[in-house]
Amino acid sequence: MCSPRRIPPQPTEQSKNHKIKSFAMFKWLLVVVAVLLGVGSKYAKRKLPLVPVDLDGKHFIVTGASAGIGKETVRTLAEWNASVVMAVRNVKKGTAVLEDIRLSIGRQDLPVEVWEMDLSKLSSVKDFADRYRDSGRPLHVLINNAGLVSWEYILTEDGHELTYQTNHLGHFLLTKLLMPSLLASAPSRVIQVSSDAHFMGKIDLDHLDSSNDTYNSMSTYAHTKLMNVVYANELTRRFKDVGVVSTSLHPGFVATEFLRDLPEWAQPIKNAMCSLFARNEVEGAKTQIMAATAPAYEGVGGVYFDACAPRVPNKLVLDEHLAAAFWDKSEEAIQHMLVEPSEDMSTEVAEE
Ligand SMILES: NC(=O)c1ccc[n+]([C@@H]2O[C@H](COP(=O)([O-])OP(=O)(O)OC[C@H]3O[C@@H](n4cnc5c(N)ncnc54)[C@H](OP(=O)(O)O)[C@@H]3O)[C@@H](O)[C@H]2O)c1
Repeated sequence: MCSPRRIPPQPTEQSKNHKIKSFAMFKWLLVVVAVLLGVGSKYAKRKLPLVPVDLDGKHFIVTGASAGIGKETVRTLAEWNASVVMAVRNVKKGTAVLEDIRLSIGRQDLPVEVWEMDLSKLSSVKDFADRYRDSGRPLHVLINNAGLVSWEYILTEDGHELTYQTNHLGHFLLTKLLMPSLLASAPSRVIQVSSDAHFMGKIDLDHLDSSNDTYNSMSTYAHTKLMNVVYANELTRRFKDVGVVSTSLHPGFVATEFLRDLPEWAQPIKNAMCSLFARNEVEGAKTQIMAATAPAYEGVGGVYFDACAPRVPNKLVLDEHLAAAFWDKSEEAIQHMLVEPSEDMSTEVAEE
């Protein structure tokens, strides 16, 4: 017995119309997406305003000056006659960057130097700060720019999670140790290079350091970037009256070396996103250069900038109790680095 043959349903007039409508809608959707991408890309890549300032006689430190936004920040500061110390973990790389800056500006005698400082080693941060203080130079602006996101949980030799130590604790120690130079040069500024990722961050006072079993790279990055904003505001509350203020900022989405360690499969996506939406390094550096130099922000702290203009940050930043407790916890974590070796020994002797 033959089984009955299945006759495919014939498209009705209604289903034909439906298909035509769906196709038309799809075309419109493509147009809308293309327009959004175009507008978004144009918005992200628009040229930011930056007014040159003569910085002759002004002294700056820029951390993470061997790449990306930090490198371009130094280039502009040097063009504007500033004296700059580039604080880098890789002196060879930093020296090549300085050579490139000298060539691009056409001056071999720029007052710019490369000094070693690795934020993932608190002893290196202390050596750098001691050297700077001992040099007796003024310090008008400290730009805490270096930063990373570690895709794996890595513990530093100081026993802290790497992203937390690099993005927050190392800079906290650096600023603390350089405070005498900042105070002596007041009015002075500390610039914290944060990120819009801070909007997704939290500050858990009992777990400032992430632990191995709960480690999530992007959340940790977001938390540390929130720490940058909270820290800037708390520093301003504590030091504004004596002439040191701090602001924080989002440089934008910038095509730098930042995501270099993404897994290989994600690199093409990153490259596509960068070519569509990212600012170049020159544009990416502008917001921090503005925050560091604009005469209008002399003595003004506690501001979060984006695209060279103030912007309202995460509302957690308003919690002054949280900020004060966060400051105290950070201080506790670096306290042992503030003790001079001789004082340390005298404590041990006294305890014996
Ligand atoms: N790019 C973006 O889209 C974006 C967006 C928001 C915020 N930001 C922030 O902007 C800042 C600069 O990032 P970038 O985009 O210019 O990235 P980048 O090109 O990767 O530069 C980061 C700099 O930090 C340095 N650094 C990393 N770990 C360090 C350590 N342990 N000690 C000393 N220096 C260290 C790097 O040194 P090496 O050259 O030796 O690697 C490099 O000079 C970061 O704070 C980042 O969070 C960037």
